[in-house]
Amino acid sequence: MGSYRIAVFASGTGSNFQSLVDAQASGVLGGEINLLVCDKPQAPVIQRAREAGVDMFVFQPKDYASREDYEREIALELQRRKIDLIVLAGYMRLLTSVLVEPYTGRMINIHPSLLPSFTGKNAIGQALEYGVKITGVTVHFVDQGMDTGPVIAQRAVEVVEGDDEASLTRRIQAVEKQLYPEVVSWFAAGKIRLIDRDVTMEI
Ligand code: GRF
Repeated sequence: MGSYRIAVFASGTGSNFQSLVDAQASGVLGGEINLLVCDKPQAPVIQRAREAGVDMFVFQPKDYASREDYEREIALELQRRKIDLIVLAGYMRLLTSVLVEPYTGRMINIHPSLLPSFTGKNAIGQALEYGVKITGVTVHFVDQGMDTGPVIAQRAVEVVEGDDEASLTRRIQAVEKQLYPEVVSWFAAGKIRLIDRDVTMEI
């Protein structure tokens, strides 16, 4: 049996990408990060991929007539590499059916709130603004909506007295870095199944 092949999509800092790379290096990911897909040629995540020796597909959306056009190119690259799982890690674009349909049940995202609360951008700021006492992290399957796919795992993070965006972000990101590699390892071990909106996990 060949190894379980993962493509990570990211647009920015790439600290989640890094946690996946580190988990692979320490042998706990259960799969191989085969490709980074990045829509921002200047993003810091590119340097991380270079240092980790991960192949990259970097593109600029403005060079294409439509989202479908660049997604078709990405899809070819993913097929060529026989990618098993797409892991979105701060990829700041909605996806179309070109990628969502063939990878239904095999594409996941991490979001810094307890969904369905605080979808979209600046979820941590939205939670503080609202005044919730508990927020957290969600890993979910990707569909064509914004953070609307079936939930795979959630971890709660308490909002404490005096928290600001920076302090809460630090605690949320620390949880992300534990949870995401763990969830990816469940996929690599074949433990997660999606049937309609039902997510089941084999222990
Ligand atoms: C993370 O907080 C994640 O929850 C959200 O985007 C952020 C990406 O950060 N989807 P990074 O690029 O992994 O550092």
